[in-house]
Amino acid sequence: MIISSLQLRDYRSYEKLAVEWPQGVVVLVGRNGAGKTNVLEAMVLACTGHGLGSFRDQDAVRHGAGGYTVAVAGAASSVPFNLRRSFQLPDVRALAAEGPFSPPANPAPVVTFSPEDVYIVKGGPGARRRYLDELAITAVTGYRRAWLDYHRAVRQRNELLRAVRKRLSPLADLEPWEMQLAVQAARVHSGRLRVQNALAGLVSEAYERLAGVGRSLQVTYRPDIVRWVDAGADLSLSAAPDHRQEHLVEAYRRAYESTRSRDIQLGVTAVGPHRDDLEISIDGLPARTHASQGQQRTAALALRMAQSMLVEDATREQPVICLDDVYSELDDERRHLVTEFLMGYSQVFVTAASREGLPSSGSKPLYYYVVEDGLVRPLTI
Ligand SMILES: Nc1ncnc2c1ncn2[C@@H]1O[C@H](COP(=O)(O)OP(=O)(O)O)[C@@H](O)[C@H]1O
Ligand SMILES: [Mg+2]
Repeated sequence: MIISSLQLRDYRSYEKLAVEWPQGVVVLVGRNGAGKTNVLEAMVLACTGHGLGSFRDQDAVRHGAGGYTVAVAGAASSVPFNLRRSFQLPDVRALAAEGPFSPPANPAPVVTFSPEDVYIVKGGPGARRRYLDELAITAVTGYRRAWLDYHRAVRQRNELLRAVRKRLSPLADLEPWEMQLAVQAARVHSGRLRVQNALAGLVSEAYERLAGVGRSLQVTYRPDIVRWVDAGADLSLSAAPDHRQEHLVEAYRRAYESTRSRDIQLGVTAVGPHRDDLEISIDGLPARTHASQGQQRTAALALRMAQSMLVEDATREQPVICLDDVYSELDDERRHLVTEFLMGYSQVFVTAASREGLPSSGSKPLYYYVVEDGLVRPLTI
C-alpha cells in the first residue's frame, strides 16, 4: 500500500496542510514540538480510525477551532483509495457513547512503531488488548463489527444491572441480554485467539532476529473467562469451527449467570473480553515484571515487526510503516537490523529530530522533508 497525499484542516498544530508523498523511505526531520508526530498520527487516524496512544478526538482539534478533518489518498494493490475522517467538537457525547475507537469499515493497513510501544510489554493489560485489537481489526474479517457490538452490549448490560438494582427493571430482563452479550464476547474471543495463533511464530522469529539465536519471545492469549469456568473446560478452539463457537458462547453465558448477583451490586460486568490479557514472556519469564528495560524495548520492536508481517499475510497488502522517533533509542546493531527489515516495505515514514544516525538509502530511494512552522516541505539536497 502507498499513501500518496495527506490533507489536514485544524488538526492539532496544523491549520491547513496539503502534502504529496513519494514511495520509498520518507524522513520527516524537525525540532521537538515541530509537528512530526502529528503528521504520522493524522495518517494513522485516517487509515485505521485510531490515533496514537491514548488518543481522544477532542484533543486533536486545533486549539480554538471547532473540528478537524484528516484525509489521505493512496493506492492498495494499485486500486486508488480515499479515506477521510472529520470530527466536530459538540459531538463529544455522541462519540463517548460509541467508544473512543471507531475504525473505518475497511481500514488501510498501517503499522506504527513508537517508543511508547514499550508499554505494551511493561504496562497494564489495556495496552496489550489494544495491540491485539489493532491487529484483529486489520486481519480478521468481521472483527471490527464484533468489537463494537460487544462493547455496546456490555454498556447496555451495565445500565440494566443498575436498573435492576434500583428495582426499575425486573431481574428476568437480564437473561436475554446476557445471551446476546455471550455471542458477541465469543466472537471477540475467537478473533483474538486467531490473532494469537498467527502471531506467535512471527513474534518469536522477529525477536530472534533482533536479540540473537536462542532468545525467545512468546505471546499467549489469556482470556479473562478462564477465571470463571471449570478448569477442565476447553477454550482453546484453534480453528474456531462452529461447534466450538457454540461451546464458547455457552461458557460466557454461564459465566454471566454466575457473576450476575455480584454484578448487580457493583453495577458493572466483571467478566469478559474487556478484561482479557496477552501474556508476554522473554526466555520463559514474564516480561512485564522480569525483563530488563532493554529487553522490553527489543520485545516491543519485535511485536511491531510481527504485526507488520501478520498484516501483510492477512491482507495480502504491504502495510505502510511509520516509525516515530524510534531510531534515536536504538544502538547501532539494532538500527542496522531494523533498517534491513524496513527495506522490505514499499513505503516507510520515519521521524527524527536530526538526520544523524538515520538509515542510509541502501536500495530504496530516501526523501527528506523538513517540518517547521506548521509546514512540511521537501528538502532538496
Ligand atoms: N489540539 C492542538 N491544538 C494546537 N496545537 C496542538 C494540539 N495538539 C498538539 N499540539 C501541538 O503540537 C506540538 C507537538 O507536535 P508533535 O507532532 O508531537 O511534535 P514532534 O515534532 O516533536 O513530534 C506541540 O507544540 C503541541 O502544542
Ligand atoms: Mg514526536
